[in-house]
Amino acid sequence: MKRRIYLTGFMGSGKSTIGPILANTLGWDFFDLDKVIEEKKNKKVREIFDEEGEESFREIESVVLKEISQKEKIIISLGGGTIIKKDNLDFMKSNGVIIYLKTSEEKIYQRLRFKTDRPIMNSILTENVSTADGIKKISELLTKREKYYLNADVVFDIDKYPVGVTVDKIIQIIKQRYGKNN
Ligand code: S3P
Repeated sequence: MKRRIYLTGFMGSGKSTIGPILANTLGWDFFDLDKVIEEKKNKKVREIFDEEGEESFREIESVVLKEISQKEKIIISLGGGTIIKKDNLDFMKSNGVIIYLKTSEEKIYQRLRFKTDRPIMNSILTENVSTADGIKKISELLTKREKYYLNADVVFDIDKYPVGVTVDKIIQIIKQRYGKNN
């Protein structure tokens, strides 16, 4: 069994918050794909999008995903678009377990409305967008993307429980997959 967990989901779904807690609890290593890309390139994701374009970012993302996945006993928080590429999906499916952290457009809006570091979200939540329009635009993109997220092995609705309970439940799922002696 390949002990790798890939956390997928829309921007602002809690991948980077929940990932380190899961890793700590299991005694595994944690990687945030966007952060590893930023360290490698010595540039922010936003700068890579601005200076090199999204296509270039997606190429780097696939390479770094495969590099990190050389290790075992790891939790990886993906970017919100990583799973869209079929090659990335196939790679992750044969190298670990993908968990989709599902959340609503309202929650995403609340978490991201004041953040400016996500190029794709910046183009949606422009300066004077109203709350209703912001949520509607997120909902439209979420609808387009959900079919990709639903390719995950496990779908977990994180709006149902407080973070602590979510973490406990996901740990149980992981332990069931890999057995107690992870
Ligand atoms: C993206 C999500 C971002 C980051 C990049 C593109 C996307 O990651 O990879 O801005 O296409 O949804 P987070 O999901 O961690 O915000």
